[in-house]
Amino acid sequence: DPSWIFLLVCAVAGYGLGSVPFGLVLVRLAGLGDVRAIGSGNIGATNVLRTGRKDLALATLILDSAKGAIAALIAGAIAGPEAGPWPGLLAGALAVLGHNFPVWLRFRGGKGVATTLGTLLATAWPVGLAACLTWVAVAALFRYSSLAALIALALAPVYAAFLATPAHVGIFFLLAVLAWIRHHENIRRLLKGEESRIGQKKAAS
Ligand code: G3P
Repeated sequence: DPSWIFLLVCAVAGYGLGSVPFGLVLVRLAGLGDVRAIGSGNIGATNVLRTGRKDLALATLILDSAKGAIAALIAGAIAGPEAGPWPGLLAGALAVLGHNFPVWLRFRGGKGVATTLGTLLATAWPVGLAACLTWVAVAALFRYSSLAALIALALAPVYAAFLATPAHVGIFFLLAVLAWIRHHENIRRLLKGEESRIGQKKAAS
């Protein structure tokens, strides 16, 4: 079994990687100001898209997903297969916490959807693939990024029950609960019919 010191290093490194706010950095580097001042105020790819820059949104999606995936893959690779799924799951989950609560932004970060999807893909790729396909299907049907994320991440532990281990089910369940909590404003807007759709520039708030 991996030592607790190694697991602690996985957690701290995962948090550090996750806490890099790529959406904020890319929008600022592009000279478009502070992404938190537009749309939903979030730092994620969905809100970067509301700047009108699809390239920046795609880059944010890829880089924010990579934070979870790379944290999980490096921890898993160093620990080796005999260590089981915990090092990768822990590093990925902490990358999501880093994204949601980055020390650099006074712990006010994002909602963790891309970073969670990256963690799923790296720790149990069939579950990650199923969750990504769920996101795409719901987004195509309803045009709400938030609704797609809520359903895709809620189903991830269900998919994991069939396709992965109890450890994956437990961590993916916790990540889904966290994502639902982080989307409380989106949920309220969805229920009121005021959520902005993908392709709409401004979030109704
Ligand atoms: O990934 C976050 C997404 O689900 C919602 O983003 O900007 O509409 O709150 P936003």
